[in-house]
Amino acid sequence: MRVLLSEIEISERVKALGHQLSEEYSGRPLTILGVLTGSIVLLADLIRATSVPLRVALIQAASYRGTETTPGRLTINQSLVPDLRGRDVVILDDIFDTGNTMVGLYEAVKDFQPASVRSAVLLWKTARTEVDLEPDYFGFQIPDEFVVGYGLDFNDDFRHLPYIGVMEDEDLKHATATPQDG
Ligand code: IMP
Ligand code: MG
Repeated sequence: MRVLLSEIEISERVKALGHQLSEEYSGRPLTILGVLTGSIVLLADLIRATSVPLRVALIQAASYRGTETTPGRLTINQSLVPDLRGRDVVILDDIFDTGNTMVGLYEAVKDFQPASVRSAVLLWKTARTEVDLEPDYFGFQIPDEFVVGYGLDFNDDFRHLPYIGVMEDEDLKHATATPQDG
């Protein structure tokens, strides 16, 4: 697998994002709302790079990809979301691809009557944006390639890789031919 972003590059950028959030949310009731499952690695690193008081919350979004690399129907499970009324919320996801997931999350979060809502992602595939929204904070703009690692999956695998790698055609073929497929 080709490495697109190394562990060190990611770590430096995430620290910079943490500093930026610390400055902008100083003195404000910040809640970082991580999007399951892809944001978990970023969430763990970003909160430790952020030096202002904050709460951590979780919401789940899935767009049913499986072994497809294009999105399907979006479902959002907000049963884990705590009271966000009057709080400054930063929705944190792994990647902003078409942007449809982030738009759906904004709508879901607004129902909780937060004081403000912004979005943060590690990766932004700028060429694929389909919505009238851009992430407020992003780590890296990347080309239109399917990537895994640092929380991002292909068919629920590869999230544990400490770097971001590109799934090329050969990698996709190997990853799809799992024993479960018979
Ligand atoms: P969007 O709704 O098209 O912006 O897609 C967002 C979601 O699709 C992300 O939260 C990811 O779970 C998934 N996704 C999009 N692109 C990739 C990728 O290159 N690798 C892994 N997951 C991706
Ligand atoms: Mg995701």
